[in-house]
Amino acid sequence: MPPQGLYESALRPLLFRLDPERAHDLTLRLSELSGRSSLTRRVARRAYVVRDPRLRTTLAGIPLDNPLGLAAGFDKNGRALGMLGAMGFGHVEIGSVSAWPSDGNPRPRLFRIPQDRGIVVSYGVPNEGAAAVRRRLDAYRPPVAVGVNLVKTNDRAHPAVAPDVYEDYAASFALLQDRADYVALNLSCPNSAADRDFFDDLPRIDALLERLAACSPHVPVILKLKPTRDAGVLREIVAIADGHPFVAGFAINLPAGKPPELNLTFPREALARMPGAVGGRPVEEYVNAILATLYEIVGPGSRYALMAAGGVSTAEDAYRKLRLGATVVQIYTGLVYRGPHVVKEILTGLARLLERDGFERVADAVGAPGRT
Ligand SMILES: Cc1cc2nc3c(=O)[nH]c(=O)nc-3n(C[C@H](O)[C@H](O)[C@H](O)COP(=O)(O)O)c2cc1C
Repeated sequence: MPPQGLYESALRPLLFRLDPERAHDLTLRLSELSGRSSLTRRVARRAYVVRDPRLRTTLAGIPLDNPLGLAAGFDKNGRALGMLGAMGFGHVEIGSVSAWPSDGNPRPRLFRIPQDRGIVVSYGVPNEGAAAVRRRLDAYRPPVAVGVNLVKTNDRAHPAVAPDVYEDYAASFALLQDRADYVALNLSCPNSAADRDFFDDLPRIDALLERLAACSPHVPVILKLKPTRDAGVLREIVAIADGHPFVAGFAINLPAGKPPELNLTFPREALARMPGAVGGRPVEEYVNAILATLYEIVGPGSRYALMAAGGVSTAEDAYRKLRLGATVVQIYTGLVYRGPHVVKEILTGLARLLERDGFERVADAVGAPGRT
């Protein structure tokens, strides 16, 4: 357990000397190994967990200790749930998992842009497939809510044509919903040629949900959408979800490519040589604008929860998203730059911000007008 400060001053420079994907694999492996011992898990929990009743909340009826979760992509196959479940998160989302195993895109497929605290990712959803993840979840369930993020298998043997796409999601859904507190459907993996544009044809979202309805969903389902500032499109998606009572919320994925809205100091020509989508601070404002629009559409007190990830690395960042309407907030890139202590730092900071603004519970701050 690196003490606060040590990660950024000593450990991160070492990790950043490695190729980004190797550094990630190493971190995940160490988390997996250390999480196997109940003693290390206990030590981690003591170091990281913040217990504060003001932070307790619910996500689509699921009770959570706090509103900060780990975003999909960090632990694609649910290998490190032991340690990740002890790091203070209110929930951990694993995946994206597909019906069949997939190797993803060719390497290199992960890049850092430290000056902007960003990551460029073009993994193409490599994962071990739903059956392997199911076996892992059968063997261990952490003391924290687990979301399973599903995506269509990304390989040439499984082209993105209807109805095969729906069958692919249905196969992993049927296998994994029993082991999840919620299921997120990744409808827009920005790096998977197979998925990129399939759901731009919105009636296909309806067709997918029809297919999943036949799997008797008994956990809340979150739709992770391709980001768009087109309120008409978002409204149409919400109207489709209205027809499927098991849809309990929405999340916003990274935009594909390098849209002009990204906040960057890194030269665009150099960025263009890095294939993939940008995560971290450069997407924060873009995602926040979409979050605000989505909240305006669903309104307060709606049946839909909003999950927001994109550039969170401080309590203020997380709080801004909550005030814009997010029920829960997720983090990935911020963890890479700030280390595991960022979870505790964000949560203690959030409690302070709630107190400053006179909110008794975090849910009271969700969508509350005024300061963001
Ligand atoms: C390296 C990396 C891999 C990711 N893999 C997935 C994935 O498999 N499925 C998914 O739905 N989102 C994936 N994401 C997106 C994250 O879940 C999250 O929505 C996004 O990175 C924004 O949060 P951040 O700015 O805190 O990183 C990935 C992001 C990164 C940086």
